[in-house]
Amino acid sequence: MSAAPMGFYLWLLLLRTPHGPRRSTFQFSPLMPKITSGEVSYITGAAAGIGKAVTTMLVNQGGRVVIADVNGDAASKFASELNEKAGSVVAIAVKSDTTNWEEQLAGFQLAISTFKRIDYVFANAGIAEHPWLPPFDPEAATSRPMVKPDLATAEINLIGQMYTAALAFQTFERQEIGPSGFRGKLILTASVFGYFPSRAMPLYASSKAGIINFMRSVAGYYADKNITVNAISPNLVDTTIAPDVLFIPFRKYKLLSDIQLVLDQFEKLLGDSTLNGQALSISQEHVWVHPPETHMLEENLPACDLISVEIFKLFGDKTP
Ligand SMILES: NC(=O)c1ccc[n+]([C@@H]2O[C@H](COP(=O)([O-])OP(=O)(O)OC[C@H]3O[C@@H](n4cnc5c(N)ncnc54)[C@H](O)[C@@H]3O)[C@@H](O)[C@H]2O)c1
Repeated sequence: MSAAPMGFYLWLLLLRTPHGPRRSTFQFSPLMPKITSGEVSYITGAAAGIGKAVTTMLVNQGGRVVIADVNGDAASKFASELNEKAGSVVAIAVKSDTTNWEEQLAGFQLAISTFKRIDYVFANAGIAEHPWLPPFDPEAATSRPMVKPDLATAEINLIGQMYTAALAFQTFERQEIGPSGFRGKLILTASVFGYFPSRAMPLYASSKAGIINFMRSVAGYYADKNITVNAISPNLVDTTIAPDVLFIPFRKYKLLSDIQLVLDQFEKLLGDSTLNGQALSISQEHVWVHPPETHMLEENLPACDLISVEIFKLFGDKTP
């Protein structure tokens, strides 16, 4: 079979996989999976914005939550509000910077000693772009020393989420299958900038792209281990991630994505959902599953697969 028809058949095959057709509208049955009452979630960056909205949704569904945030006061206040409303302990707060391994480890240890297990981990904490270099200015540059780049955006949005993921996987590994039929589920908050470049946000875009390929890679590794890993990728949502002035033109031109639509995508991944390795994406009223890169896939797959097999052998990992 020549390369062209082979590629065509591969493309057809991909259309039939859970990755779905390119940029399609992703539709679910109205009977969406929900969490089992009492299930426990650990959410980073839960004291504001998207994390706070997800946390509220989980508690409203009968879940218990660990609110982990670098802003310890806001996390404690939010936990108190949720507990007061529920009339019981449904939330605990943890002051934890995701870039600090020891702080995250302590947060997970507190969660397990309090609630005994963690069913869902949301690696959500993130920040907007910090300029990594001064603006391009050849004249000023001649009298300026070479500047060490500010990599805070990548440290929080990529390394911080990887620390959270490492703790999630090792927690899931140590616990039995839970009420929804899984050891655990990890959901990473990515962004549409995980697929699309941004000339103003190179570190944000590269860290979110890193999260997308990390998610797809670990989803493959844990697929046969009763663990799911997925990502949510919104376009701009009106939160505290940026100064309010930034949102003004987006409100005017109706270019914001609705937080409820974002929450709906998180909800699709909960409970007995078997979705794995998916990037659920939201831009304004559009919702789609972003397909993985397929350009030259056919030519690369044999080597990519064999690399995995050989590396597992080197690492002493029994995964086939
Ligand atoms: N708002 C958007 O337009 C948008 C779009 C796509 C993706 N996202 C992603 O969603 C996630 C949440 O963003 P948001 O809009 O809710 O932001 P937000 O600023 O409203 O809330 C983020 C929360 O994370 C906390 N946080 C920040 N750095 C932290 C760290 N190092 N450790 C622990 N907590 C930390 C903050 O204190 C805050 O409570 C981020 O990963 C962001 O990149 C946001």
